[in-house]
Amino acid sequence: MSAYTRQAMALLFDRTAKTYDALGVDFFGVFARELLDRVGLVPGERVLDVGCGRGAVLFPAAERVGEGGSVLGIDLSAEMIERTAKDIEDRGVNASVSLMDAQEPTLPDAAFDVVLASFVVFFLPDPVAGLRSWHRVLKPGGRAGVTTFGADDPRWASVREVFKPFVPPELAWTLAVRSGLFATVEAFGQAVESAGFTGVTSVERVCPVKFADPGHWITWSWSHGQRMFWELIPEDRLDAVRQSVLAELEPLREPDGSVVLAQTVRYTVAHRG
Ligand SMILES: C[S@@+](CC[C@H](N)C(=O)[O-])C[C@H]1O[C@@H](n2cnc3c(N)ncnc32)[C@H](O)[C@@H]1O
Repeated sequence: MSAYTRQAMALLFDRTAKTYDALGVDFFGVFARELLDRVGLVPGERVLDVGCGRGAVLFPAAERVGEGGSVLGIDLSAEMIERTAKDIEDRGVNASVSLMDAQEPTLPDAAFDVVLASFVVFFLPDPVAGLRSWHRVLKPGGRAGVTTFGADDPRWASVREVFKPFVPPELAWTLAVRSGLFATVEAFGQAVESAGFTGVTSVERVCPVKFADPGHWITWSWSHGQRMFWELIPEDRLDAVRQSVLAELEPLREPDGSVVLAQTVRYTVAHRG
């Protein structure tokens, strides 16, 4: 993760916060709900939602733990925290948020029954250090639920190629987030175990994600981590790249004009012994 510091990452997500998960695409919420099912949250539990963003996990988690439980969301993006805090207040939800680093959260030991981290761990400079911290803040017998991405949809390979020429060598890792400890379910499972967890299980699921048309995908791709790739493109090339992406997506259109991405997600559940 060299050359893209934690602070730069937080600022990137500041720029996405306004439209993050708000563009009519069933994505983060779908995966959050499945994560909660797999972790099996029950009423009364104390939950930490690491890298909470706009609350895709936090809000359904608060509903499931009920009045007797609690959810704390932490994130390093001030914009995410500010907007999610306002939503919590407006919706009168039993949750709170705090501006805090996910890798070294300043939280007491054994304070939570469950730690959740949806699409966050691969942004950390040292993912195993993050996992170790999450193990530390769990009470004995507690559990963690983490989502990561699996293999990319091969039908969309040519779209990814469009962005590659603009990625400098020091950011090459961003094109290979399924490498190293994220390469396979087994490699990630071993990383989770090396952080102290036991009873680690992972499953991979493929979920179709629908966009109204290719332009909808482009707009959506600016609203989350993919924005990083758009921002690497010089201003005077942006329109040409946009046209290339539209051209690559054109053959993928369904009869109704939409395009569908087959998104593979890994759900990992682990325990503190
Ligand atoms: C892809 S979003 C996922 C948000 C949410 N969990 C969801 O499923 O919609 C990643 C989030 O992690 C946050 N993040 C990235 N690096 C972080 C760090 N070092 N500490 C805390 N949050 C971080 C970003 O600000 C962003 O809100």
